[in-house]
Amino acid sequence: MNYENSRIADVAQALTARFNELADKPDILKAAELKALYAEIPTLPADQRASFGKEINQLKAELERMVQEHQNAAETLPPIDVTAPFDMNTPADQRPELLPADHGSQHPLTTELSKVLSIFYRMGFTAIESRELDDDWHMFTALNFPEGHPARDDYDTFMTTQTDKNGKPLIAPAHTSTMQNRVLSQFKGSLEHGQPIAVLLPGRVFRNEDLDARHEHTFYQFEGVYVDKGIHAGNLMATFKTFLSEYYQQDIEIKSQPFYFPFTEPSFELALSCPFCQKKGCHVCSYSGWIELLGMGMIHPRVLEMAGIDPAEYTGFAWGCGLERLVMMKYGIEDIRHFESGRLTFLKQFA
Ligand code: DAH
Repeated sequence: MNYENSRIADVAQALTARFNELADKPDILKAAELKALYAEIPTLPADQRASFGKEINQLKAELERMVQEHQNAAETLPPIDVTAPFDMNTPADQRPELLPADHGSQHPLTTELSKVLSIFYRMGFTAIESRELDDDWHMFTALNFPEGHPARDDYDTFMTTQTDKNGKPLIAPAHTSTMQNRVLSQFKGSLEHGQPIAVLLPGRVFRNEDLDARHEHTFYQFEGVYVDKGIHAGNLMATFKTFLSEYYQQDIEIKSQPFYFPFTEPSFELALSCPFCQKKGCHVCSYSGWIELLGMGMIHPRVLEMAGIDPAEYTGFAWGCGLERLVMMKYGIEDIRHFESGRLTFLKQFA
């Protein structure tokens, strides 16, 4: 558009250029230059006011048209299908721009889990990730929780409305133990070749919890499963004590007390000497010097049988350890909810 008045023409040019840069296009209508032109009208000689005012109005109308046009174009953009998979074949110059990777960092739980894994790899374990949706049979029956057994109530978690082939709801697993039957069945052939079953099962688990500094509805566990001839509880304690001493890089003491799980016999609860204060007493261990960490035991003969392993010939141990607790104790993290909070102030401390 052409403007007779050269000052209005200059402002028009400047504002058109700025419009292209503006993230919020309607802001162009609030430009200081435009306001200044309007403010000038009363100062002009009377015979120039009308034509000057008319040209400013023209400029304003032109800017309004540009804003409206931009808004119409934005409205007609096709909606983004957020479920669409990323197409690896898209040429690099047509890919959406992403924030540079150096703005991100690995989540502390991922970092710590890889340390845990590397310790167990060195001990000869292999690893399989657990599932995030499972069925009632793997969650309970295969673990020797009969139908209606009260111990099922200790594992209250989330269920889907969708059901499995037995008409039972699918379950967001409350523990990684749901994988026990699968790995025992999968690897039992190696026992006949004189190879132990040694598997670590890391995974995300879910509970219907009242949330507080020590309880989350979503957390991580790593299950250990070991089976061979002549395996006893001493092997279990030695294996886990070695792991803890490696993980905390100091000599850790352990003590066990009897406990109850349907899938182990005998069952134990294991406590470790506080790695934060070396048993002197601190806020991490509630000044007791010890921290109860996990459940473990000798795999119940029925659990071995259900996977097709003869309990008269083979014995084994298992544990289920919460990853967050282990990490909290390592770094003196006071609240489990930090992990899922997504807060950069927390995450950056581990970047
Ligand atoms: N699944 C148990 C829980 O989450 C922990 C556990 C205890 C796992 C004993 C085991 C075990 O494998 O042998 O409470």
